[in-house]
Amino acid sequence: MVDFPEDPSPAPSFIAVDGEIQRIVLTGFMGAGKSTVGRLLADRVGWDFLDLDSYIETVTNKNARELFDALGETGFRQLETDFWASALKRSQAIIAPGGAVIDKPANQSILANSAGSFVVFLDALFPTLIDRCLRQEREQGATYRPLLYKTELARTRYIERRVLYANHAHRVVNVADKSPEVIAQGIWQMVSTFSVRSVNETYRR
Ligand code: S3P
Repeated sequence: MVDFPEDPSPAPSFIAVDGEIQRIVLTGFMGAGKSTVGRLLADRVGWDFLDLDSYIETVTNKNARELFDALGETGFRQLETDFWASALKRSQAIIAPGGAVIDKPANQSILANSAGSFVVFLDALFPTLIDRCLRQEREQGATYRPLLYKTELARTRYIERRVLYANHAHRVVNVADKSPEVIAQGIWQMVSTFSVRSVNETYRR
């Protein structure tokens, strides 16, 4: 059993998963590791992994920067809401939305009403997350994060969102001091305490 040590994060307020778990949703600020952990978890459980930003880019055949330029932020956010609603109807899936999805009340309500979603907020302190994002940019390039170089705005968003993530999660995991493998393993153990009929056969150690 992986034991997550005492957690300084805000307590989640979602009470229970409504029915059998159909999907795991990983939320959190940029740099929290939603995609890395999501892929590992999907591999472990044998479910699909869906990174919402990548999925939008694939379906529209445009990258995030092009979509932002073409639609403006409001248009992009509406598109994101449509994809978010359809992603949360999937079964046997691990879903990682972009960090900003939680900002919009419509998106919060889609999440709150998605029966069968088990929501885990991946949390860490602001400087840790920004350091990770900057390192990713240096090492991997590509991820389009307009917020990254507006540090004060990013800090404000982080403070506002941290409460929202926690208020819309079943569990909070402090990710600062753990490897993605340990986090994925721990999340799977949390999920296993609920009844997940369909994954028990496919779970690979
Ligand atoms: C954003 C986070 C990014 C991406 C976009 C906006 C944000 O996703 O959706 O740059 O405002 O926090 P990640 O959280 O996957 O980095």
